[in-house]
Amino acid sequence: MAKAKATYTCRECGASFPKWTGQCPECNAWNSLEEAPATGAGSKGPKGRGNWTGTASARVVSLAEVGAEDSVRRLSSGLSELDRVLGGGMVPGSVVLLGGDPGIGKSTLLLQVQDAMAQACTSLYVTGEESAAQVAMRARRLGLQPERLDCLTETSLEVILATAAERRPAFMVLDSIQTLWTEALQSAPGAVAQVRECAARLVQFAKQTGCAVVLVGHVTKEGALAGPRVLEHMVDAVLYFESDSGSRYRLIRAVKNRFGAANELGVFAMTDRGLKAVGNPSAIFLSGASEPAPGSCVLVTREGTRPLMVEVQALVAPSSLSNPRRVAVGIDPNRLALLLAVMNRHAGIQIGDQDVFINVAGGIRITETASDLAIALALKSSLREKPLPSGLVAFGEIGLAGELRPVYNGEERLREAAGQGFDQALVPEGNLKGVKARMTVRGFRTLAEALAAI
Ligand code: TYD
Ligand code: MG
Repeated sequence: MAKAKATYTCRECGASFPKWTGQCPECNAWNSLEEAPATGAGSKGPKGRGNWTGTASARVVSLAEVGAEDSVRRLSSGLSELDRVLGGGMVPGSVVLLGGDPGIGKSTLLLQVQDAMAQACTSLYVTGEESAAQVAMRARRLGLQPERLDCLTETSLEVILATAAERRPAFMVLDSIQTLWTEALQSAPGAVAQVRECAARLVQFAKQTGCAVVLVGHVTKEGALAGPRVLEHMVDAVLYFESDSGSRYRLIRAVKNRFGAANELGVFAMTDRGLKAVGNPSAIFLSGASEPAPGSCVLVTREGTRPLMVEVQALVAPSSLSNPRRVAVGIDPNRLALLLAVMNRHAGIQIGDQDVFINVAGGIRITETASDLAIALALKSSLREKPLPSGLVAFGEIGLAGELRPVYNGEERLREAAGQGFDQALVPEGNLKGVKARMTVRGFRTLAEALAAI
């Protein structure tokens, strides 16, 4: 039999070539070609692509015939916050990629999940990073029952798949995908081609056997999952585990989920006995200061399917630089530049010669434009050195013409704020319709009106 010929695939654009070159001829990225196994995809049929007949056809099903029950029967991870992020638990046959910085608690979380799963089904924890003794030590420290936790220390994909095919686990963890290697490739474990090939085979395994698989992925210095972007396309859900440095709170964010809301956020606290779900996260993101401080404003953002109260802090100070500093932590710096320009042009607030710093408390990242109004209020409060009234929340999107645009789920946000004890809200006029919140809600058409009102 002729030896399968290797091809080289660009990790940036995915184009493949028979030979290695230093620069990808397709996208001009440097040093991005990686060895990939020859799949022979083009020659699967008897005579290649142009052959319309001669291949047996497959059965097409109407979706009505397909039972919905298997999508409902989800496996609970035992942690309410993780179940929420997954959209109600793990779906059998799905593959979840969990990324995060080293030491953030990925292995801890998954060992706890395995313990919960093991009560209902067979499970397998495959680790290529630690010895079985280390995992056992962690399990004891977490107060889990080690006798029902099955662990396999192995890095060869072929051995792992053979073992899994024999034991038929309903839940399997691979910690981590970067340590796995397959015989089909010559490159070292962790190389892009290895990671992709191993992940593809595991996805195939999950779909065929109905086993729910979790892949742990390392994160690069830039914060992206190490390995090609392709990995994120192959799996059903991509979760990021993140935290503010030094904080004991951990956030899990779903950046992609085929079985639930994207951008859903789960909050955990790392304790000496592992991770505990935090049921009322709004409480931990508010500073809890009794005296309101200048430059601080509380807003109601919406992460996934849940409203969340967070505090934005602004510091505006005269600058000695010809190009004053603009630093944004937790929001998009471009959004800050845009807001400063609108405040200058439409509300007459001059911040051009000041250094501006914005920070979102609790290490949370806000991607919503609904935070615009709160940021503008915090900026003005810091500039004038006057605190905003306590018990005040604000949300609303600011347009380039200085108008306040309504945001979705306004009613739900107000209910959350009222529930947390806030008694005054500044919102876009468009969000006033039909509001029945137990608090004073004031609506404004423009940013200038809202800023003048405080
Ligand atoms: P770990 O799960 O090993 O991280 P990862 O797999 O993401 O690299 O987490 C290890 C960290 O968690 C370590 O710094 C110690 C801390 N930790 C606790 O605070 N409490 C615990 O009960 C455990 C097991 C770990
Ligand atoms: Mg680990």
